[in-house]
Amino acid sequence: MGGKYIFLSLLIISLFLLFNYSLINKNDSKKLNSNNNNNNNNNNNNNNNNNNNNNNNNNNNNNNNNNNKNNKNKNNIVKIDKLDKIFLEGSHLLKNTAELNETKILLRECHYVDLVYTWVNGSDPNHINSRRLFHRDFDINHNYNNLFKDGGGGVSSNDNNGDNGSKSEFVYPHEEEDSQRYRDYGSLKYSLRSVRKYAPWVRNIYIVTASQIPSWFNASNNENVYFIFHKQLFKKKKDLPTFNSNSIESNFWNLPEEVSNCFLYLNDDLFFREPVTVRDFFDVEFNQHIFESGETISSFTPLENDRLDVWSKSLVMSNRVLDRIWKNKSPRYNAQHGVQAFNRKVWVLMKRELEQELSLTSSNKFRTTNDIQIPFTYNQFAKRYSKYTLKDPNNAYHALKSKNLKKILQEVLINKSKAKTICLNDLLDDSLDQEVSLQIFNFFESLFPIKSPYEVIN
Ligand SMILES: *[C@@H]1O[C@H](CO)[C@@H](O)[C@H](O)[C@H]1NC(C)=O
Ligand SMILES: *[C@@H]1O[C@H](CO)[C@@H](O)[C@H](O)[C@H]1NC(C)=O
Ligand SMILES: *[C@@H]1O[C@H](CO)[C@@H](O)[C@H](O)[C@H]1NC(C)=O
Ligand SMILES: *[C@@H]1O[C@H](CO)[C@@H](O)[C@H](O)[C@H]1NC(C)=O
Ligand SMILES: *[C@@H]1O[C@H](CO)[C@@H](O)[C@H](O)[C@H]1NC(C)=O
Repeated sequence: MGGKYIFLSLLIISLFLLFNYSLINKNDSKKLNSNNNNNNNNNNNNNNNNNNNNNNNNNNNNNNNNNNKNNKNKNNIVKIDKLDKIFLEGSHLLKNTAELNETKILLRECHYVDLVYTWVNGSDPNHINSRRLFHRDFDINHNYNNLFKDGGGGVSSNDNNGDNGSKSEFVYPHEEEDSQRYRDYGSLKYSLRSVRKYAPWVRNIYIVTASQIPSWFNASNNENVYFIFHKQLFKKKKDLPTFNSNSIESNFWNLPEEVSNCFLYLNDDLFFREPVTVRDFFDVEFNQHIFESGETISSFTPLENDRLDVWSKSLVMSNRVLDRIWKNKSPRYNAQHGVQAFNRKVWVLMKRELEQELSLTSSNKFRTTNDIQIPFTYNQFAKRYSKYTLKDPNNAYHALKSKNLKKILQEVLINKSKAKTICLNDLLDDSLDQEVSLQIFNFFESLFPIKSPYEVIN
């Protein structure tokens, strides 16, 4: 019943969106800020594309080479609210909380340590489509028109036009193509196993996602694992969807009240490799440890330097922001690339002093050079406003490349680095062939063989 009606409405809605979208695209704007206003109109709809994990994939799966996929994707939006209702009923979801009471956070002490992950299933076709759609909008607003000459709804990879500082100094043109950054190679499940094995004292685990739930997660047995959706976390809903980790992290001051004042922050490619205690991250009074790398970030570094990538430029920019607000020009040390300890009191102070900058970062859907780099910037605030202990890095960073994969996995297995935590950054080739996937699977299974109770039985 009503099938035709639904189909017709979908058609009308998508035509409307298409029309709307092409109008938006004509409003070229070179300013980064106005980009977000433009996206605003589309937001309610596209925001939802991420959510459609289950029902709509059938429609899209076969269409990977189809030029119309962005249009089709727009059809998906309609079903979201239904899915949301289903999700919001589970005990694995935090109830929507009221506006954060900062005073309460400032008065609150730590009694235990929680853990926060950010995770995205970038292999989800809806995520891929949404990413492309917004990337196109982003490109157009930054004059990357030529990126779409391939007509496939994708981005042509050899196009270098975007890299011209004069046009685009604030943009990372090929972000969308870094599929590894978004790809899910199954690491979250094993990172969680590593927490259970080596840091069982962690109280609650919160996974921040774009309304995605990992397919292996058994929501009816969630134990101490909860999901926080971007739409709960973000103060400004119009910043969503976002494909920029800096944007997500810039909203951490607004984590639901349930999250302890003391928490560890992990990306899903970080694992505990040895038993750790609370004292590895906080002292007896829950003052935090700060882990710095040896790398200094200097405000004097010229941003025109072509050898600096967007990531490094945004570090320099972040340091310049601190110079400005604290009237003190100095080089500062970068944060280690590893587990980060956070205290929410420091977050409140940081949000108060950097409200505008964090808000701008939140609105950057892809990495830009004016993003605030969170771990680096947070550490400077912690050093300025809290009691802390400076520690040497406790993490071993590994760039997983197809060439060195075997060697690195072997080294991690035999505990060669003797680091307490390891980062396995996915820099493997675009397509993970079966052999490589199997290799990674076997590696993880031998390192962390014990299933968590919230993994589905199969
Ligand atoms: C915020 O928390 C403080 C301290 O717990 C409390 O006194 C105040 O009433 C709260 N404010 C609101 C608006 O709930
Ligand atoms: C980059 O900008 C410079 C001007 O600063 C211009 O001469 C050059 O042609 C531009 N390159 C491209 C690829 O657009
Ligand atoms: C990620 O998305 C893909 C495509 O929808 C799905 O097959 C896979 O199970 C998802 N992975 C996780 C961990 O949820
Ligand atoms: C790794 O090596 C260190 C130093 O030898 C040792 O203390 C630690 O127990 C080892 N960890 C594991 C998990 O084997
Ligand atoms: C999920 O957990 C519940 C409760 O432990 C269990 O009864 C059910 O079989 C699990 N489902 C799957 C698919 O593993």
